[in-house]
Amino acid sequence: MMECPFDSKDSDHLVDGALLNFSNEMSYGDYLNLNGLLNSQKLLSMNHNEMLFIIQHQTSELWMKLILHELNETVHCISNDQLCEALKMLSRVCKVMSQLVQSWDVLSSMTPSEYSKFRPALANSSGFQSFQYRRIEFILGNKNLIMIKPYFHFKDWFDQLQATLNKPSLYDETLRLLSRNGLQIPDSYLNRDWTQPYAPSDQVERAWLQIYQSPETYWDLYELGEKLTDLEDLFRTWRFRHVTTVERVIGFKRGTGGTSGVGYLKKKLDVVLFPELWTVRTHL
Ligand code: HEM
Repeated sequence: MMECPFDSKDSDHLVDGALLNFSNEMSYGDYLNLNGLLNSQKLLSMNHNEMLFIIQHQTSELWMKLILHELNETVHCISNDQLCEALKMLSRVCKVMSQLVQSWDVLSSMTPSEYSKFRPALANSSGFQSFQYRRIEFILGNKNLIMIKPYFHFKDWFDQLQATLNKPSLYDETLRLLSRNGLQIPDSYLNRDWTQPYAPSDQVERAWLQIYQSPETYWDLYELGEKLTDLEDLFRTWRFRHVTTVERVIGFKRGTGGTSGVGYLKKKLDVVLFPELWTVRTHL
């Protein structure tokens, strides 16, 4: 063990009373496991800019972890009619999404010349294989069985993703809530094969119309509708900023994950999570 250069215990509180000796106390770094966290950036190239690339992805994954934490609880609260709690958590999810949207500004400081120097080190790895991103998509209702295949080699993630695929999404639980509040939702939307993607329904649109035409009668549900719209709005912005950053960094090269790259990501801009919340606006 290193010898302490400070000879007296009196020096333990010398900075405005702050504790300075952590040999027998939990410190900030202990609590946050900073040694593990700050040693998780393993650069595979000698290139300076790879650090930005790794930290950008790792911080995004950390924020996604929080989004999942909040969304899982939100779905649970909605299924238990705890709408105030759900709205509070959705607000936090939106703030985190805004943070993720903003973070593209940092990555877009990387030029194609810089990225191409370390890109070969990535081999076939790609955000396409982000387990947490797929889980968020599934919770938000963008279900697609084939997307769990990349995790077949890692049972824990595979099982978690399959469990999320099998459960009602945030929007499915929202429609059940609408039904419990007297709105007409078709039975086939209250109980269905949850692994299947959501298909828009005129009757669901009419239920939202009823809510949006009388906000004062359905204030909580109206607020929920707007909060979900905020969330999808931000998600779309994230996708747009991603594809734009990708285009400025790799142009129209294929992705390391094997897709057409920008072409693939542009198609994802058409994904709609809560369709009737958008179409209802035409009738107001
Ligand atoms: C210079 C930086 C980046 C480039 C060039 C890039 C490129 C790509 C490309 C080409 C794809 C399509 C799949 C493939 O063939 O690889 C993709 C997918 C994806 N990327 Fe990125 N990406 C970058 C940064 C990021 C960051 C910072 C994140 C944050 C986690 C991220 C998350 C994702 C996700 C989640 C997908 C899957 C999208 C979907 O399937 O809908 N990417 N990326």
